[in-house]
Amino acid sequence: MPSPFLPYGCQTIDDDDVAAVIEALRAPALTCGPRVEAFEAALADYLGAPHVLACATGTAALHLAYAALDLGPGDEIITSPVTFSATASAAYQVGATVRFADVEPDTGNLDVGSVAALIGPRTRAIVAVHLAGLPCAMTALRALADAHDLLLIEDACHALGALYGDRMVASGQADAAVLSFHPVKHITTGEGGAVIVRRPEHAARIARLRHHGIERDPAGFTIPSPGPWYHEVVEQGWNYRLTDLACALGTSQLTKQPDWLARRRELAARYREELARRFGTGADALVRAPATRARRESAYHLFAVAIDFARAGVDRATAMARLRDAGVGTQVHYIPLTAQPFHRARAGAHADLPRPGADAYYARTLSLPMFPALADGDIRRVVDALATALDRPAVARPVPFLELAAPESSP
Ligand SMILES: Cc1ncc(COP(=O)(O)O)c(C=O)c1O
Repeated sequence: MPSPFLPYGCQTIDDDDVAAVIEALRAPALTCGPRVEAFEAALADYLGAPHVLACATGTAALHLAYAALDLGPGDEIITSPVTFSATASAAYQVGATVRFADVEPDTGNLDVGSVAALIGPRTRAIVAVHLAGLPCAMTALRALADAHDLLLIEDACHALGALYGDRMVASGQADAAVLSFHPVKHITTGEGGAVIVRRPEHAARIARLRHHGIERDPAGFTIPSPGPWYHEVVEQGWNYRLTDLACALGTSQLTKQPDWLARRRELAARYREELARRFGTGADALVRAPATRARRESAYHLFAVAIDFARAGVDRATAMARLRDAGVGTQVHYIPLTAQPFHRARAGAHADLPRPGADAYYARTLSLPMFPALADGDIRRVVDALATALDRPAVARPVPFLELAAPESSP
């Protein structure tokens, strides 16, 4: 029987997840009900975070975070070009401008020196993307933000459960943080996201913005409330709510997150062993395991290796096609946004600044399958397939003398 195709990432849905959604379907409130608050409370508890607000997607979470922190026309954010489009496009949605810093060539995370070099009079926020699940240099970024009176925002869509020191990311060190619950992420709600903030006024604002800008607290009304039906639309908002069905799924998924995260880390350790076995461990290894940093523990949303395609003599498209034929799905995270037509058009000449870190990262990165349901044996299968795809011999097998001496026509 052929081995099953391994995608680069996918969800795990157990019977208890299905049961939780069915129960929610039979409940009186399909949206705006108690399962939303229950999910938010469970997330706050897991993260050790002060205020968590569930919303429609990670993209909506970014939009809400930027809006609630009052980013707008004339403001600039500084972020990484090695990220998903939404990190930047949500800033355009509030009318802000994006400046792309360079990244560390080995992690793809923001290079703090390059962020510092871009700070100017219009800079309002630094948006740190914890790429693949490895936390950015948060202490240095916080110090930089404080020194220039800037907001610090975490795009933690890859990093649920990642540790910076002994604290989880997205637990309130930054002014705001966002999560995504898209199916390839750590836990899923189908589509979904959350914003984490540390100040209650930001939480109240986000609750209002995700619900059409409607104020329900009589203390915030412009007139004394004439009755229980009364509410006021006080600002531009959106319908970015997450349903009770989705939240029921999220709460059920979250109960398994500690085990799933431990499994991701176990799989990462196995990958490291297998990669060392096939390719060695030095800085010049043909395939390098993801870079690590002291006192930071990745949540391994992705397992992105760095491949020296030029030295292998195999281009990335060929390697990906060979891997696909061997039943192994891979992906590239990400084409730098400074190479994307839309973001280039927005950035103008700024897009063409040299970013050697981003260029080096992009040239080599390839995300291998990483999700908790992978079996131990899958890891060896993937690494063996990678070795074959890069035209490396399976093992540097010593050739017996007799085999060397045998004539070519031997059976
Ligand atoms: C880094 C990053 N930011 C933001 C998002 C947007 O999340 P969503 O797909 O839930 O809108 C994603 C999702 O892929 C992401 O990877």
